Amino acid sequence: MKNTTVSALALTAGLFGGSAAMAEITVGMMLPTSGTYAALGQEIDAGFMLALEEAGQQDAVRIVREDTEARPQVGVQKARKLVMQDEADVLVGLVSSGVLGAIRDFVDGSQVPLIVANAGNDEATGDQCSRYITRVSFSNAQVSRPMGEYLPTAGITKVYTLAPDYAAGRQMIDAFTAEFAEHGGEVVGGEYTPFAQTEDFGPYLTNARASGAEALFVFYAGGEAISFVNQYGSFGISDSLPLYGTGFLNSQLYLDAEGDSAIGTVGSLHYVPSLDTPENEAFVAAYQERHNKLPSEYAVQGYDAGRVLIEAMATGADDRESLAEAIPQVSYTGPRGPLEIDPATHNVIQNVYIYEIVKEDDRLTQNILATIENVQDEPHGCTLGG
Ligand code: BEZ
Repeated sequence: MKNTTVSALALTAGLFGGSAAMAEITVGMMLPTSGTYAALGQEIDAGFMLALEEAGQQDAVRIVREDTEARPQVGVQKARKLVMQDEADVLVGLVSSGVLGAIRDFVDGSQVPLIVANAGNDEATGDQCSRYITRVSFSNAQVSRPMGEYLPTAGITKVYTLAPDYAAGRQMIDAFTAEFAEHGGEVVGGEYTPFAQTEDFGPYLTNARASGAEALFVFYAGGEAISFVNQYGSFGISDSLPLYGTGFLNSQLYLDAEGDSAIGTVGSLHYVPSLDTPENEAFVAAYQERHNKLPSEYAVQGYDAGRVLIEAMATGADDRESLAEAIPQVSYTGPRGPLEIDPATHNVIQNVYIYEIVKEDDRLTQNILATIENVQDEPHGCTLGG
């Protein structure tokens, strides 16, 4: 049975009876606080804390934090420590697809629920799915496919691709390429750049310029996204080779650091702060009040991880098994729009927005060009749905 839909404002009003209502549980928070994805981890954590605060449930959760960096073996060590030593009732977080892939068997085997707050690894909600893994962020294919459909409608049929050489980069390019081909597009060339080591994107941009492509489609996030967009801007090729990508490329989190180089770039994402809905307006105001900046998709993912957990706890779930059962049943309309967990995969079903970065009143913002509603992945070998 689905949990009741509850608005952010109802949570703020203390629907769950303030701090008295729930038994305390231990959350093992697995986020990068160092390395190329550190800023993403901080923003996810801030969103998570906002959800607890809004629900008046800070005291219902003991949080033990561990730095996963973006290194799979570090992630495995930290997961073991949190589950065995700290006796976490639930794990939350994960930014890198590589780290998620590395801890998947441990999570499944130790039967501890995991709420994924970023890492898009397709396999974790595909053929490597688990009843203990629920993802409230996105899958790599889910945010890439829509651009494969959109580009031909914008008159672009020849594309060059670039992405970092690890699971997320390969999965995003694969999903985009397949969808683009289905809509008559052709990937005329592409390269994978060494992950978290590439400082000079010049040689890759030179190859892309010579490829005969009409546009670039890329996946970069965090520090790599900032370097890539700035170097793309310096290359002066935005007219001949416009830049498209999954929207981690021009995320609100680092839009200021990208500056005018980001203008005209087009992204696909499940959340942008310019969404004009009452739920998002309330969320943006609450986040801005605490952090004096607009929230990014990472903040929303952390917020929804916290909110899904709190709503699961509100059904009485208070240990690993009952939380694993309750977490995937939560649904509501939140800052990003409708949020529902697919019972067949445990991946989130959600809208994906195609948007362009524009300058308005001297401020960079996201102008939404298209909304693809309720994007859902195929099970791809996951048997959770029977
Ligand atoms: C990933 O590794 O899954 C990922 C990292 C940063 C942004 C998006 C996806």
